[in-house]
Order: sequence, then C-alpha cells, then structure tokens
Amino acid sequence: MSDPAGQQPERIGFGRVAEDYETTRGIPDHFMKELLEDIISTCGLTANTLVLDLGCGAGRFLRELTCRKIPAVGIDISKGMLEKACLNQQSRIFLHSYFVSGDAVALPFQQGLFTGILAIHLFHLLSDWQEALSETLRVLKPGGTLLTGYVEGVTHGSFLTRLYRRRRVELGYVYEHPGVHPSEIIASLRDEGATIETHQFSTSIGVPVRQTLTFLDQRVFSSMWRNLPDVVHRQIMQEVRASATSQFKNLEDTEHVRIHADLQFVSF
Ligand SMILES: C[S@@+](CC[C@H](N)C(=O)[O-])C[C@H]1O[C@@H](n2cnc3c(N)ncnc32)[C@H](O)[C@@H]1O
Repeated sequence: MSDPAGQQPERIGFGRVAEDYETTRGIPDHFMKELLEDIISTCGLTANTLVLDLGCGAGRFLRELTCRKIPAVGIDISKGMLEKACLNQQSRIFLHSYFVSGDAVALPFQQGLFTGILAIHLFHLLSDWQEALSETLRVLKPGGTLLTGYVEGVTHGSFLTRLYRRRRVELGYVYEHPGVHPSEIIASLRDEGATIETHQFSTSIGVPVRQTLTFLDQRVFSSMWRNLPDVVHRQIMQEVRASATSQFKNLEDTEHVRIHADLQFVSF
C-alpha cells in the first residue's frame, strides 16, 4: 500500500531496540497501576471483553491487562518485539493473551471485534496513518473505545535527553516523525464525529545519570538512530557526557525526571 505521495510507506524497524525496550521504557509500578485502572474503567474492559494492543511492542500494557484477567490480543509488525513480548509473558502468570504478527494497515480480524483498542506510541510512526486508523476503526466494536497517546519512558524527560535532541536540531538534523502529530489525529477524529476524552498523568522518578547516559549511548529512541549519521551521534554524545560530568560530580547521582502520560480516549 502506498502513501498519498505515491511512495512506499516507511516502517521503522524496532528490532534493534527490542532487547532493551522494556528497561528503557519502564514505567514505575505505581504509575502503571494508575494508568491501567484509568484505561480499564474508561474503556469498560472486563473479563468478558476483548482488547487489542495495536503495535504492542514488548507487551508492557498487554501484560498488565492480562494479569487483571482481561483477554487481550497483541499485534506488532516487528518479529523482534513480538519475540520479546512472548518471552516476557512466559516469566509471569498470564491469562487470555494472544500475539499476532501483522501490519496495522491490514488487520487480520473481523469487523467490530474489539471493545477497546490501545494504540500507544503508534500513529506518529506511520506515514500511512490514515489507512491504519480506518483499519483500526473497522475492528472496533460500535460503542467501543480507541486509546491513542503516549506514556513517556524513564529517561525521556532527562535534561541530558533534551540536550541530545536540541543539539541534533542545532547541528542541522531536524527530527520529524514519519507519521501524524497527536493533535492532528485528534482533529481528524473529531471531524469524523468522535468524542474525545483526554486524561493526563504525571509522576516523578529518580534516575541515575549514568543510566540516562547508557540509554543515550545505545540510541534507544528512534529520534537517536533514524536519519542521524553515527559520527553526529558520537559528537552529540561527547557534549552530553561533558554536560553530565560538569553538573554531577558522581554519575551514580540521581536526577529527578518527570514522566508524563497523555491518553486520548476516542469513541463514536
Ligand atoms: C514506540 S513502540 C510502542 C510499543 C507499545 N505500544 C508500548 O507503548 O510499549 C511502537 C511499536 O509499534 C510497532 N509498529 C510500528 N509500525 C507498525 C505497523 N505498521 N503495524 C504494527 N505495528 C507497528 C513497532 O514495531 C513497535 O513495537
């Protein structure tokens, strides 16, 4: 399937970060609990409903749902991510979870199957997001709820991560996601008559400076590996490391980082 410009749609390969995805996108337990309770009650999920985790990654949300006895299907385009999700599943008690390998633009499910669909951190990655969105709405039950939005990872708001991103732009490597900005997708859904409820959450966590540096070194966010030459990454890292050592005598010291979550609940 091609995008409106007639080009093949871009697919960002998450296989390279699958191994460490859960560590680098970890959510503190109390925060995850707060988010999950909100998701379950707003989407009306129970043991008798079925939920789809679209672009489920390594399964951090799907696991929490199935631990609460909510039947869930996870689908992802990355084999590496799905393998990780299955491995993560084996290490805990899971009920009623299924994994499918597939693309959001061609979902192998019947119309109206899911009471809730989670599409967290997804549509900004898809250049053909309109096709993916209409596929998503096709498999959503009438009266069901689609959740889009984001939940930041532990080091996302660190001053070092922000410095990295700022230097990337200053060096001429402006970062643009291939897909849609969250506000644009919400506007498009409103135009189609959707009702949107926004729920925002925030917490703060102490993160050792060394850990943030390690994640940056590993280029764990797509904005750090996509369309950025290795040599520029190395130059930015030198500056980031210098800033870390000038502000913290000991790299084991912790920085208090805020984690934000912005959940958009969409229903028709
Ligand atoms: C940023 S990760 C988010 C993972 C998960 N939703 C979470 O919040 O932990 C995006 C995921 O979407 C998957 N993905 C990207 N494009 C996709 C597509 N066209 N169809 C299905 N999954 C896709 C990626 O492989 C990756 O696992």
